[in-house]
Amino acid sequence: MSTVIEISGLRKTFRRLRGGAHVALDGFDLLVESGQIHGFLGPNGSGKTTTLRALLGLVRADSGRMTVFGEPAPERLPQVAGRVGAIVESPQFFGNFTGRRTLRLLAVAGGVPTSRVDAVLEQVGLADRADERVRSYSLGMKQRLAVASALLKEPELLILDEPANGLDPAGIREMRDLMRDLAAAGVTVLVSSHILAEIQLICDHVTIISRGRRVVAGRVDEVLAGFDHGEYRVRVAELDRAAELLGAAGLTVVGHPDHLVVQQVADPTAIARTLGEQGLWVREVTPLTPDLESVFLELTGTGHRSAGTGPEHTAPPDRGTGRDAGEPERVIELGPTATGSGEVPA
Ligand SMILES: Nc1ncnc2c1ncn2[C@@H]1O[C@H](COP(=O)(O)OP(=O)(O)OP(=O)(O)O)[C@@H](O)[C@H]1O
Ligand SMILES: [Mg+2]
Repeated sequence: MSTVIEISGLRKTFRRLRGGAHVALDGFDLLVESGQIHGFLGPNGSGKTTTLRALLGLVRADSGRMTVFGEPAPERLPQVAGRVGAIVESPQFFGNFTGRRTLRLLAVAGGVPTSRVDAVLEQVGLADRADERVRSYSLGMKQRLAVASALLKEPELLILDEPANGLDPAGIREMRDLMRDLAAAGVTVLVSSHILAEIQLICDHVTIISRGRRVVAGRVDEVLAGFDHGEYRVRVAELDRAAELLGAAGLTVVGHPDHLVVQQVADPTAIARTLGEQGLWVREVTPLTPDLESVFLELTGTGHRSAGTGPEHTAPPDRGTGRDAGEPERVIELGPTATGSGEVPA
């Protein structure tokens, strides 16, 4: 496996119109290796688009080191441009042109054989609408046309900023299938998104950014496992008595109006056994396994666990050397919030 994108210590400060500065990226790190479908997640205004724009040379970073296929970016990006397809700013197409004509012109401009046009139209599922004007396309079709344009040169790396934005569930599903197909064909994909359930379905790796810093990175399953607090939801008739019994058995119990949550459970059978022995019959014992959304909320300071605290610092990712097999590849350290700017992300 080789490194496709490496970003370390990326900083970007924007000057405000009314004076003052806004730190958009505060020492951000990212590592994408070949063959990954890498989800790039973060709340609004956390710095995702700025990161991708800096990587592609669309905005100048203050400091930090970036490489794409081992070449320093953005300075030596032209050397590898033929291997990279990116949609970061949503592309504007001429409404009067058909999808096919649009792609033909882009192919000619990019020095790509026009024979590629039919292939990419097929790939994104636009072949049967290719001869209609772009202005008649739905948002989802325009997104697919944009992806088709990025695929013309058969990139090894595809960078997509919020490709599911504005799509309906069917459109999102199509985008997901497309990304899966590309990954199966060996394309490395870096995709930013807000739609966490989607990311969980398609991505094998994830990096979460909050306030310009990486707060977690690693394989999706390992990240999720790292946030598994061994919690179980228990439904039983006499909640108060059940809580007492479980507490007496040494378990940590949190009461809710119609159920209990038992925490740090090593052996879930102990729950039913403890209650059953006292004649309390358990209706439900369900493991509360974390999903990306709960991890995201916990890490980005919007969930109940971390209310009032913010993720602060991340270490460089361990690339698997000397790491215990069972230990997640997450890099996280929760600390006191830097509340300097007092800003609420837009
Ligand atoms: N050209 C700019 N001038 C001033 N501030 C900017 C500029 N571009 C971005 N910012 C600020 O930098 C921060 C990060 O913005 P960015 O667009 O990278 O966030 P994002 O993670 O892509 O958000 P979203 O999920 O809403 O797309 C925000 O506070 C934003 O207001
Ligand atoms: Mg953005």
